[in-house]
Amino acid sequence: MSPLSQDQAPVAAAPAADPSGSGRVAQHRRYLMCRPEHFTVSYRINPWMEPANPTDTAKALAQWQVLHDTYVELGHEVELIDPVPGLPDMVYTANGGFVIDGRALGVRFRVEERRGEERPFMDWFAAHGFEVVEPVEVQEGEGDFLLVGDTILAGTGFRSVGDSHRELGEVFGREVVSLRLTDPRFYHLDTAIAVLDPVEGPGGVERANIAYLPSAFDDASRAILEERYPDAIRVSDADGAVFGLNAASDGLNVFISPRATGFAEQLRERGYRPVPVDLSELLLGGGGIKCCTLELRGSR
Ligand code: ARG
Repeated sequence: MSPLSQDQAPVAAAPAADPSGSGRVAQHRRYLMCRPEHFTVSYRINPWMEPANPTDTAKALAQWQVLHDTYVELGHEVELIDPVPGLPDMVYTANGGFVIDGRALGVRFRVEERRGEERPFMDWFAAHGFEVVEPVEVQEGEGDFLLVGDTILAGTGFRSVGDSHRELGEVFGREVVSLRLTDPRFYHLDTAIAVLDPVEGPGGVERANIAYLPSAFDDASRAILEERYPDAIRVSDADGAVFGLNAASDGLNVFISPRATGFAEQLRERGYRPVPVDLSELLLGGGGIKCCTLELRGSR
């Protein structure tokens, strides 16, 4: 007989409420990450990358490990995809695809240098029980697509093309709102918007809120954000410039760069708990916390 009979079986841990009484609740997340074993900056596809400057792979690994362990310590689940030699940007798994309800839309990179990652990511999804949709249009996955409540915010301007937004709507049957990025430093949507309230969980959809960097968008997109998210946290240019918006959240804990001190304060005022994790070495490749994190929704 198994040592645990049916009624003794452990139940899933209850969502962790904030002891400070803010009413915010940490929802369980499942993330895909990739160890930066082959991390370096050998080409330049965004303004942060400078191949002439040295990178320290051991330091990148150590910083990445802290992010990984922080997620796990806070009760989240982290899946790993094997890094591929010669694909130094594979650590930025947010670009590996976009996953909702067990369905994974693969990535079709704009930048030639990263096209070798497309197949490994799609193979990983297929091997882990996801229904894989091969993309037709150019887009860079969760780097440019963010699920907020029932709506997908989709970025364009630098990497993902407008037609990918239509394809995205067709694949997932959800409303897609297109936003145009205008500052080359903030070339993916996840460098300019942080989703604070994930979908699942009590009140998740109604309360879904975001933080964003107004100066990263054109006027029309800024107007859309103002109208749809009147309670959003507007982050300062100084915090945006240290990749403060490139953050992950479980609805209570918000994993952010320790340099985004103003944003941390804004989060605290709203009852979130900022969890600083320093990925300075990975910023040399133009990526931060969110870039290293792909959310896996559904399946299993
Ligand atoms: N060097 C990578 C690139 O330019 C960084 C990707 C950052 N990822 C992100 N989700 N913002 O593609």
